[in-house]
Amino acid sequence: MSIDVEQLQSDLMAEIATADLDALEAIRVKALGKQGAITGLLKTLGGMSPEERQVQGPAIQGLRAAVADAIAARKAALEAEALDAKLATEKLDMTLPVSTGPQGSVHPVSQVMDELAEIFADLGFAVATGPEIEDDWHNFTALNIPETHPARAMHDTFYFPDEKDGKKMLLRTHTSPVQIRTMMNQSPPIRIIAPGRTYRSDSDATHTPMFHQVEGLVIDRGIHMGHLKWTLETFVKAYFERDDIVLRLRPSFFPFTEPSAEVDVGFTWVKGRRVIGGDPAAGNGGWMEILGSGMVHPKVIAACGLDPEEWQGFAFGCGIDRLAMLKYGMDDLRAFFDGDLRWLRHYGFAALDVPTLSGGVGA
Ligand code: DAH
Repeated sequence: MSIDVEQLQSDLMAEIATADLDALEAIRVKALGKQGAITGLLKTLGGMSPEERQVQGPAIQGLRAAVADAIAARKAALEAEALDAKLATEKLDMTLPVSTGPQGSVHPVSQVMDELAEIFADLGFAVATGPEIEDDWHNFTALNIPETHPARAMHDTFYFPDEKDGKKMLLRTHTSPVQIRTMMNQSPPIRIIAPGRTYRSDSDATHTPMFHQVEGLVIDRGIHMGHLKWTLETFVKAYFERDDIVLRLRPSFFPFTEPSAEVDVGFTWVKGRRVIGGDPAAGNGGWMEILGSGMVHPKVIAACGLDPEEWQGFAFGCGIDRLAMLKYGMDDLRAFFDGDLRWLRHYGFAALDVPTLSGGVGA
């Protein structure tokens, strides 16, 4: 049998060199497919004499490998050419501005809550939470608020119609019940703030039925009012980002603290607006009440199962919405909760552009 392997190879190589992708596939089937010419040659090896096979075997195998390689190389070249051609016709301008689409913003209340958590974390306070649906024992009784206290009257408190386990359920009227829950669940020393939603039946420009408070509580040995005053001063300075903060503690009354103090902060008149900071004694300002505070009443400490002879502490409570209004200059509290996007776009904060305190990535 005479097989001109070289002739077959040079014919196939010539065809491969000019083939497009479809023709290449046809050549592959014609040469290497089941019925292909080279496949046919390989089958003839079986009928050869050993001497002949020794000569033809490597020649036919070499032919098969050379043709398979040539087909693969031509295919890769054609595909690269096609990609180049495609890239040459398609334009992608990496310098075009990206359309960002609608973006949300951080509500001022959330922003202020973050700022509070950050300031108090630096002072070693943890954030505690409690339920918004409370029972009257945690909201009132344990806080030494007697049955006859006006805060319990229906016009202030949202009560639920049914009792649960003999307890009257309500929407918490302040964050102070978190004090009780924390003292009952943790052993002292305790340093917490408890920011959250609170509810009272009230509505005008400075009151909404739902609002936000932050509660502060420290329980330890040997705590006195000096600790309270220093903590509040440090907090107010950090929050308003001013060193010229002057505080005034006014004697007051809260059932859960004794003694109790309302805390005023000095403001200065600037272009007809009250700006927090400066000493009212300088004659160009006045006092603004910002929070309630005091030394935790021994009865409250005892109600939580702690010995008031051993453990003392201070507490404070403050309106978060009011803190936001004072720092960021909003004047109508109701707008906070209207869900008006124009208001949010104006007063909201970009999520990654926190302008204060830790600075954020945008500062
Ligand atoms: N719970 C009080 C309120 O809602 C605020 C308050 C005053 C909380 C004095 C305190 C405090 O912890 O010591 O009006």
